[in-house]
Amino acid sequence: MAQVKSAKILFVCLGNICRSPLAQGIFEKQITELGLSGKIKADSAGTSGWHKGEPPHSGSIRIAEQKQVKISHQKSRPVNMQDGSEFDIIVAMDKSNFRDLRNEFAVPPDKLVLMRDFDPEGRGQDVPDPWGQGPEAFREVFEILERSIREFIQQKILI
Ligand code: 4NP
Repeated sequence: MAQVKSAKILFVCLGNICRSPLAQGIFEKQITELGLSGKIKADSAGTSGWHKGEPPHSGSIRIAEQKQVKISHQKSRPVNMQDGSEFDIIVAMDKSNFRDLRNEFAVPPDKLVLMRDFDPEGRGQDVPDPWGQGPEAFREVFEILERSIREFIQQKILI
């Protein structure tokens, strides 16, 4: 079986209802397919607490269901000051989240990464916020995350 080098991963966006719940679900599915689910813990959180306790956005739930990814059980939570020590890697969905994690939540720089730094089709770009948009925007986010997370696992999780 494959070996892992990082065990606890936190995905972060602004509201923790659109992008980061999808990222968590896609990551968990790919990790399960690699037979590594017992060795890795994934979670997601928001830099805001605006949607605390809420399930993911219906647009994210819908595209996830179409792709056999399970996210409907998740509940939004805000990032807290312990997350930087609790998790091995914290993955920001966009550059604004990245800045907030570094400046407000004191996440150590060596643990903080930007999701699309792992996207071969859009390196360094933001995962676009689909909030307030239609199903096509959620589909695009899903596709960006699927290919970014595949490379993230290769680079950061597998030995
Ligand atoms: P997310 O999307 O950060 O991907 O969860 C958003 C959800 C809610 C809001 C903004 C972005 N909001 O302004 O409430």
